[in-house]
Parts: sequence; structure tokens; C-alpha cells
Amino acid sequence: MADLSIDFAGVKAPNPFWVSSGPPSNTLYQLNRAFEAGWGGFVWKTLSDPLLNVTNRYGGIHYGRTRAIGINNIELVSDRPREENLREIREAKRRWPDRALFVSAMVPSKREAWHRIVEEIQETGADGIELNFGCPHGMPERGMGAAVGQVPEYCEMITSWAKEVAKVPLMVKLTPNVTNIVEPARAAVKGGASALSMINTVYSIMGVDLDTLEIQPSVRGKGTPGGYAGPAVKPIGLYMVSKVARENLGVPISGIGGIESWRDAAEYILLGATSVQVCTGIMKYGFQIVKGMISGLSRWMDEKGFARISDFSGLAARKIAPFGELDIMYRTVAEIDYSRCIYCRRCYTACEDGLHQAIELVQKNGRAVPRIKEEECVGCRMCSLICPAQCIRMVERDRGFPSQSWSEIVAANPGIDSDWKVMRRWRKEHNWRTK
Ligand SMILES: Cc1cc2nc3c(=O)[nH]c(=O)nc-3n(C[C@H](O)[C@H](O)[C@H](O)COP(=O)(O)O)c2cc1C
Repeated sequence: MADLSIDFAGVKAPNPFWVSSGPPSNTLYQLNRAFEAGWGGFVWKTLSDPLLNVTNRYGGIHYGRTRAIGINNIELVSDRPREENLREIREAKRRWPDRALFVSAMVPSKREAWHRIVEEIQETGADGIELNFGCPHGMPERGMGAAVGQVPEYCEMITSWAKEVAKVPLMVKLTPNVTNIVEPARAAVKGGASALSMINTVYSIMGVDLDTLEIQPSVRGKGTPGGYAGPAVKPIGLYMVSKVARENLGVPISGIGGIESWRDAAEYILLGATSVQVCTGIMKYGFQIVKGMISGLSRWMDEKGFARISDFSGLAARKIAPFGELDIMYRTVAEIDYSRCIYCRRCYTACEDGLHQAIELVQKNGRAVPRIKEEECVGCRMCSLICPAQCIRMVERDRGFPSQSWSEIVAANPGIDSDWKVMRRWRKEHNWRTK
């Protein structure tokens, strides 16, 4: 059976599923429940200086009948006294020596403040410290969180201050609210980070109440942009983890963002993560979801022949290439499985108006049946994505020419990327149809 245990920056954990810093990781009571359910690690809700939270802290985005595909929050960091948190953390580590326990921290950008918090946390026996450079609301106004994560120089400087006194690994948690995540990642490693975690939440406004004209969530009439999380942000997290993983910075990555199942976790690991963290998934479904994550991931690893997490970490990241290296000669067209078609005509309408006019309706037995016009189909894949019956798939067709990428085509046909005459000649030679 697959071995799910990991070594993350020198910290051992029985599995890669960790509770992320947030509402589920606020107390010892929750930590006990999480570890009893089987979570391999826990990142304690961010410790900071005294503060007050507002009510109406969360907003949700619903799509169709699915509730909360994304949530946004304007919650700050832990509002419990620091001594209380530290006492519970000490007790937690004593009770659960085999689990990974990191403590998230965020204090004003002063060397002494960082020295103090790092020393206080490591005295508890915690395995590591997560430096929160990602919180997008409230804290940046006080010069913390994303205000640090968005400036690589600050990331490096503050990490190096923490490193001056740290005896345990420092994991830097990055904000996705940047143009190029690699820059703060690189800076954090330069400053002494032993690991990176990403993503924290994404800047967002959840909506506007059309009766009151207030943004959501509203705090007695006023709102503030918050951080977006949950399944809706998974693609952003996957992208950012893969981008940093491909830089080979020499430190492990903890993948975060929209993880609710073992499949989500496997995708993060395939793109370069070693561990994963879950916040919204637990806020919605509770700690027990880890059971399905453990059994599902083990089963899949057994099926695939992966003995341990490191056997597949990063495998999919290697399949990411610049656009110029993609095979332009690869051709797919849509194919309808009529045994499952419900004749809703959504594929026809979408293709006819919004896309490439490659689906027609033909009358059969008194009803309008969609038919793919292969010669017109550009292989965009939209019909297959929207079909409610999931009866459209893409199938490969031979173009009659060997594989070639755009970079190779440009190299072999000088001027093709700037001169339409050259492009037209190439298209003619290759029987290339366009819309
Ligand atoms: C309500 C809420 C509070 C959060 N508080 C913190 C926090 O105190 N510190 C922190 O580093 N991240 C915090 N986060 C961010 C999460 O740890 C995580 O990075 C983010 O929500 C994406 O993961 P998810 O989609 O699993 O929620 C919070 C997220 C939510 C939704």
C-alpha cells in the first residue's frame, strides 16, 4: 500500500493533508478534532498583535444550485490573546508528537517584533513557523500581510529577520495578488525560507445588493474588498504552484486553494507541491473530509504504481511548455455520443452564435438533432465543456502532416509571423482551413 508520509523541510508528517491557517485552525479543541480525524499537519491561525474582528465577515458566490463555489472573507488574524494561543500550541505538540505543527505569524515590519514572535513560537515546541505575507484585507493597511508579499525586497528582509533567530523551518506564505509570483518566492528563499506555501486569498468583491446598493459582505452599510477562496480559486493556486515549482528554488511547496478532495490534492502535488493545505473545504464540510482524501489518494497511488508522494510530485509540471512548443498539427474535432444526447441544442446555439458555426441541426424522427460539421470544427472544445449530458468528446484526426510547433514553423519559414503572403503560402501547402 502507498506510503503517504512526507518529509517537509525536515518536518515529518504521516500524510500531506494539512489544515490551513484560518478559522479551522484557531484552537486546541479544533486541532484535537483535526488530528483525531487523521490530518497529517496543522498550520495554526495567524498570531499577531491585539485586534478586533467585524461581523458579517464572509461573502459567498453561488452558481446555479451549487452554494459557495467561492467565499470571500474580511476576517483578520487570530483575535485570541497570544499567551492563550501559545499555551495551547505547547499542549498540542505534547499530545501529537507525530503530526506536523506550524504556527502562522504576522507582526508589524520591525526586526524586534519578528524576533519576539519567532522566539515565542519556537519555545512552544512547534515544528515550524509560517510567515503570513499574504493576507489581502485589513492587515495591509497596517503594513503587514500582502503589503509585504507584494514587495520582494520586503519578503526577503522580513524573512531574513525571522531567520536571524529561527531554530525551526520557516515557511513563507505568498499572496496571489502579484503579477509574477516567482519574484516574492525567490526573495523569500534568498531571505532564508525553508519552504513556501501558496496561495493566500485573492482580492475580490463578492457582489452588490441591488436593494441596498451595499457591497457584500456589508458591515452596517459599508464593506471592504476581501480575500477569495474555495474551489473557484483552485486554477489560480495550481498555476502559481506550478510556476514556482518549475523554478526549482530548492525548497518544498505547500499547495493551497480550493482543495476539497483527494483529486484536488493530487493535482497540486503533480504540479510540484509536497504537502497541501485546506481551509474553506473544512469550513464547509468539517475535518472528516480527510478520511476520503487519505483513502482516495492511497488507492490512486496504488493504481498508478506510485509508492510515495515524491514519486509523482511535479510530474505534471514537466508537461507545461511555452505556447511556441505546442504541436500545431494536433487536430481534434467534436464527436457526439447520440445514445446520451438529450437534444437540448445547447451545443448548437453556443457554436452557432458564440463560436464557429460547426454544428447544424438536422431533422430526424420529428426532432432537431445536432450534427458536427467536421470540416468546420476548429476543435475549440467549448461544446464538450458545456454539454449538460456530457455526451460530446474530442477525438483526434490526422492532418496528414508530422507534428510541428509554432517555433519550428517560424524557424523553417522566415517571415511567416510578420508577412501574410508567407502565411497564406504555408496554409495552402498544408491544406489549412481557417475561420
Ligand atoms: C475565513 C478565512 C480566514 C483566513 N485566515 C487566514 C489567516 O489568519 N492566516 C492565513 O495565513 N491565511 C488565512 N486564510 C487563507 C487560507 O489559509 C487559505 O490560504 C485560503 O483560504 C485558500 O485556501 P482554501 O481555498 O482551502 O480556503 C483564511 C481564509 C479564510 C477563508
